Amino acid sequence: MKLASKIGCKEILYLSFLAVLFFLNACETNVIDDDTAIIDSPDCNPEISFQESIQPIITNSCIKCHNGTVHPLNFENLTVLQNNAGTIKAVTQNRTMPLNGRLTDEQIKTIACWVDNGAKIN
Ligand code: HEC
Repeated sequence: MKLASKIGCKEILYLSFLAVLFFLNACETNVIDDDTAIIDSPDCNPEISFQESIQPIITNSCIKCHNGTVHPLNFENLTVLQNNAGTIKAVTQNRTMPLNGRLTDEQIKTIACWVDNGAKIN
C-alpha cells in the first residue's frame, strides 16, 4: 500500500502498459523467427528425388483440389507442376497452401529444396 501510494496510480498504469507492449512485441518477434527458419534453406540434397520426396506430398496434400476440379492448376500434369514450381514454393512457405490443411516444416523445406534444385522430374 505504501509503495503504491508513493508511485501513484498513473505510474502503475503506465508501467503496465509498457509491460503489455513488451509481451506483444515478444510474440511478434517469435513469429518472424519461425518464418525465417523455414525460408533459410535447410541442408538440402541437390539430388532430391521427385518421385520419392515430392510426389507423395503433392498426392496427399494437393491433388484433391489440383486435379482439374477445384482449381485450374492441375498437378497431375507434371509439366504444370514444373512450370509453377516457384509459386508452389512461395505458397507453401507462406502457408496459404494447402488450403484447409497443413504441411510440416520438413515437407515445406523438402518442396523448397526440390524447387531450388531445378524442379526436376526424377
Ligand atoms: C482444399 C483445396 C486445395 C488444396 C488441398 C490445395 N489447394 Fe492450392 N489452391 C486452391 C484454390 C481454391 C486456389 C485458388 C485460390 C487461392 O489462390 O487462394 C489455389 C491456388 C493455388 C496456387 C496458385 C496461387 C497463385 O498465387 O496463383 C498454387 C501454386 C497452389 N494452389 C498450390 C497448392 C499446393 C502446392 C498444394 C498442396 C501442398 C495445394 N495448393 C493444396 C485449393 C487447394
